Amino acid sequence: PGERVENETPKGLRVSDKGFLNTAVIQSQITYIDGDAGVLRYRGYPIEQLAQHSTHLETAYLLIYGTLPSEKQLRLFEGEVMSHSFVHADAEHFFRSFRYDAHPMAILTSAFAYLGSYYSEANPSLQGQKLFTARDKASLGNMDRQIFRIIGKATTLAAMAYRIRQGREFVTPPAGLSYTGQFLYQMDHLGQKDYKPSPVLEKALDVLFLLHADHELNASCTTVLQTGSSLVDPYSAIAAGCASLYGPLHGGANEAVIRMLISVGSPENVPAFLAAVKRREKVLSGFGHRVYKTSDPRSFIIRKTADEVFKVTGKDELLETAMALHDAAIKDEYFVKRRLAPNVDFWSGLIYRAMGFPLDFFPVLFAVPRVVGWLAHWRQMMLQEDGVKIWRPRQIYVGSSKRDYVPFDQRP
Ligand code: ACO
Repeated sequence: PGERVENETPKGLRVSDKGFLNTAVIQSQITYIDGDAGVLRYRGYPIEQLAQHSTHLETAYLLIYGTLPSEKQLRLFEGEVMSHSFVHADAEHFFRSFRYDAHPMAILTSAFAYLGSYYSEANPSLQGQKLFTARDKASLGNMDRQIFRIIGKATTLAAMAYRIRQGREFVTPPAGLSYTGQFLYQMDHLGQKDYKPSPVLEKALDVLFLLHADHELNASCTTVLQTGSSLVDPYSAIAAGCASLYGPLHGGANEAVIRMLISVGSPENVPAFLAAVKRREKVLSGFGHRVYKTSDPRSFIIRKTADEVFKVTGKDELLETAMALHDAAIKDEYFVKRRLAPNVDFWSGLIYRAMGFPLDFFPVLFAVPRVVGWLAHWRQMMLQEDGVKIWRPRQIYVGSSKRDYVPFDQRP
C-alpha cells in the first residue's frame, strides 16, 4: 500500500512484445516486404527487376534518395563513392594491431568506429545536435559526404581485414573498375601486372550486393537506428549495426550453413541430420525467417547466380548435399507446418566458398553491401518531419520488490 505498482506506466499502455514481433517503431518509404507472398521491393521496385537490370550502386542511390537516378546523377554518385575508397595511411597501423587470426567481422566492426575518429565534421556531439537533422544545403551536403565515404571505404576496410589475416600487403584501390571489381582487385591482387578480376564473378558479386543492400528493420538495421537515435555520429551507428549483423541468427547464418553442410557431409546423411533438427538437437541454418513464411524471393535469384559462378569456378563439392537437404526439408511436414523455407543465406555461402572466400569472411560480405540500407534508413530517420526521438523501450519488471542491503556476515 502506498507504493507504486511495478510496471505501472505514467503514459498510456505498455505492451509486452518479446522479439518485437508486432512492434512498428518508424514509418518508412524504403523497403516493402510481404512475408506471406514472398515479395520484396526497394522503393516500390521488385527485387527481381532490380537484380536483372540494375547495379549495386544504382540501387544504393535508389534506396538512399528514393528515385532511380538519371544517367548523369548515377555517374556523379559512382564518382563520389569511388573517390572515397581510399583510407588514411595511418589506418595500416590500426589494422596491424589485430592478431593474425582475428575474426574479420570483429576487425570490420572496429574499423568503422575507428574511421569515425577521423571526421569530427560528422560528430553531432562536437558540431551541434542539428548537424544531420537540418535540411539546408550545407547540412545535406555534409550528410551526403558521410554516406559516400562509408559506402566507398566499406570495400577497402573489408579487403584490409581480409589481407591482414594472410600477412599480405594492402592494395591501393584501383581506378577504372566497378564497385565490386575494385573490391575483388583489392582482395585478390597478388602483384601481377594487368590483373583484372573475372567479369562473371564481378557481376555475380554485384547481384549479391544488390540483394543484400536492404531488408527493412532486421536486427542490424534496428540497431543502427536505435544507436543513431541518440544522435551519435553515423560511423559509430554503422559499427553497432556490424556488431548486430555478426551473430549467427543474422549475418553469421551463411557461415553457419557451410559449417552445417560440412558436418552433414553427403546426401545420404540428410535424413539423420533432419531427424536431429526435429529433435531440436540441431538447427537447419539458412531456413526460416521472422518475416518470410514462404521462400525468400532472393533465394531464387541467388540459386541462379550460383550456377553462373560454378561455370567459372567449378561446382562446389557441397552443392549436392545442399540440394538434397533443401529438397528434403521443403517437403518435410515439420518444416512445412512451421512455414520454414530457404532464406537468403542458404545458397549465398556456396557462392562465396566457390569464389574462394574463407568461411569467416562471409558476414563481412553481408555487411559491406548492407551499409547502404543502414545509411538509407539512418538518413530517413534523421530527416523525418517531426524530428528524431530517442529510442527508449520499456521493460516488464519481474524482479524482486524492495529489500534492504545485507552485510556479508548476515547473508545465508
Ligand atoms: N531449424 C529448425 N527449426 C526452426 C528453424 C530452423 N532454422 N527456424 C525456426 N524453427 C522452428 C522453431 O524452433 C519454432 O518451432 P516451435 O514453434 O515448435 O517452437 C518455429 O520454427 C518458429 O521459429 P521461431 O524461432 O519462433 O522463429 P523466429 O522468427 O523467432 O526466428 C530465425 C527466425 C532466427 C531466422 C530462425 O528461423 C532461425 O534461427 N533460422 C536459422 C538461422 C538463419 O538462417 N538465419 C538467417 C535469417 S535471414 C537473415 O538474417 C539474412
